[in-house]
Amino acid sequence: MELIDKFGRKISYLRLAVTDRCNLRCQYCMPAKGIDIVDRKELLSYKEMYRIIRVLSELGVDKVRLTGGEPFVRKDFVNFLDSLSFNDKLKEVNITTNGALISNHIEKLEALKINSINLSIDSLQKEKFAKITRRDVFDNVYDTLLKLEKSNLKLKLNIVVQSGFNTDEIIDFVELSKNKDIAVRFIEEMPFNGKGQRTINEVWDFNAIINHIKGAYKEIEPVLSKKSSTSRNYKIPNYKGTFGIIPAFTRTICNDCNRIRITATGMFKNCLFDNGVFNVRDYIRQGASDDELKALFITTVHHKPENGFVAEASRGNDVSESMSTIGG
Ligand code: GTP
Ligand code: 5AD
Ligand code: SF4
Repeated sequence: MELIDKFGRKISYLRLAVTDRCNLRCQYCMPAKGIDIVDRKELLSYKEMYRIIRVLSELGVDKVRLTGGEPFVRKDFVNFLDSLSFNDKLKEVNITTNGALISNHIEKLEALKINSINLSIDSLQKEKFAKITRRDVFDNVYDTLLKLEKSNLKLKLNIVVQSGFNTDEIIDFVELSKNKDIAVRFIEEMPFNGKGQRTINEVWDFNAIINHIKGAYKEIEPVLSKKSSTSRNYKIPNYKGTFGIIPAFTRTICNDCNRIRITATGMFKNCLFDNGVFNVRDYIRQGASDDELKALFITTVHHKPENGFVAEASRGNDVSESMSTIGG
């Protein structure tokens, strides 16, 4: 039994949000105040998450990315990671984090066989970082970055490109790949900011970002990546690391999409841009068996929309959720 959609795409990658809470308030993700945080009882428990992952891994999901909100805000998250190491069907367990809480846990993460960490860092300047995140934690995040570079964990940096905020730092970020074997990734900003309070004036899309970088270097080499990679990747000749661009909003990656998402409250999403198809948590709490869950997953995935535009059109309302509830 496998998860295959009607376009023949095999689903092998689950993105699971372990919480909707976050210790930061990034401008492009959340409003400063008035965030709807769900009651704890509505969040999937670790036991439920473990079971969902086990059932999906029996259907061919072998890569899990844990996201949030900020995953490390949830109590006992590290123990949960430990429990996942017992699932030998999983080839990769990855985490997307803002890094503010983890500089003292890097060794533990290495011991847990986490494959890679995607670290969100939108500015290398302390004051600007505080403006974007509305919190003064740059030193902690930078410390995490330095420790991760020295660790044996694979490291990708996520930079949401925001006009008027950090476009002047794009080349500084590319330069981080000069001496370090890291993947620096620029992300197109999307309108998932909760309550629709930030409108994007001038969008820095894939072309704007790549043209800006091309203007600064004599030569740029494309780097071959996995078909299902979210980023188109490149390298400056002789640099140790790579840089890439995630066309998150222009959505030119959908043809090779291999992913599904489950939000912190158990909403199953076939696509970042859809409204959610059914709530896994509710089925579990009503006593669904593993076979019933499998049947639900198989049928739902079959109807995965062809791409993010089709998914968005099916919503019938504007995308005004916060990325912290969707799970990125
Ligand atoms: P890996 O490929 O596993 O390294 O991770 P990733 O790049 O998919 O995950 P990450 O959590 O680091 O997300 C980086 C950015 O890509 C975020 O802005 C996500 O919203 C965006 N993203 C992730 N998956 C998708 C997707 O399926 N579609 C679109 N449009 N954007 C995505
Ligand atoms: N547009 C693009 N990326 C976003 N992220 C959060 N909100 C947005 C948005 N509105 C990114 C975070 C994190 C990843 C999971 O999603 O910066 O790196
Ligand atoms: Fe938190 Fe991530 Fe949203 Fe920033 S982008 S507020 S780090 S969930």
